[in-house]
Amino acid sequence: MCLSDLSAELSVVNSSKISFLPILMRFLVQSGFLNQHEDHYFLTPASRLLAKDDPFNVRSLLLLNHGQAVSKAWPELSDWFQNDSPTPFHTAHGKSLWDYIEEEQPSVLGDIFNDALASDSRLNTNVLITECKHVFKGLTSLVDVGGGTGTVSIAIAKAFPNIKCTVLDLPQVVGDLKGSWNLDFVGGDMFDTIP
Ligand SMILES: C[S@@+](CC[C@H](N)C(=O)[O-])C[C@H]1O[C@@H](n2cnc3c(N)ncnc32)[C@H](O)[C@@H]1O
Repeated sequence: MCLSDLSAELSVVNSSKISFLPILMRFLVQSGFLNQHEDHYFLTPASRLLAKDDPFNVRSLLLLNHGQAVSKAWPELSDWFQNDSPTPFHTAHGKSLWDYIEEEQPSVLGDIFNDALASDSRLNTNVLITECKHVFKGLTSLVDVGGGTGTVSIAIAKAFPNIKCTVLDLPQVVGDLKGSWNLDFVGGDMFDTIP
């Protein structure tokens, strides 16, 4: 995209701010986030990871880490090393991430969290089932403990039809999910029992 197309696309309403766009773009080029050729800017492997239409994008992982709830936990990191709180998230919110997600109405962080983890898993699982096939040799079943919405197991079950896969996660995460002939979702607490 060239600069004029980009500013039109961004619908910058305050025209005095347009002059900052080339500065921002220069910064993004210098940090390896974009390439520049003449007056056009191109995505690099790093920025492709954030492009919505890239099948292996991890955009929601970035949105999660920079969202309000998680951002509030980062400044607590120094205190956390010195206090008794189990996580910086606890210090910031007075409860665990899991309790926060369970109690929030409507579910905002929970949806972003599940999507973020799933996108990270999509990227990694693609490498796992193409480059590391030998890991699955001889396996007849596996349980994906804390397997979220099943991104990893769905890909494994598809790539290795002879392996019976079970996804164990909290009931509010796997409650409505449907499995397939070699994939089951089980709602439960991994500290109580693992199927
Ligand atoms: C880091 S995420 C893993 C996501 C998953 N591997 C994926 O590919 O999307 C951790 C998962 O553990 C689940 N979890 C947390 N506490 C749990 C518990 N006590 N029993 C079962 N699952 C739990 C969360 O709901 C979350 O989905």
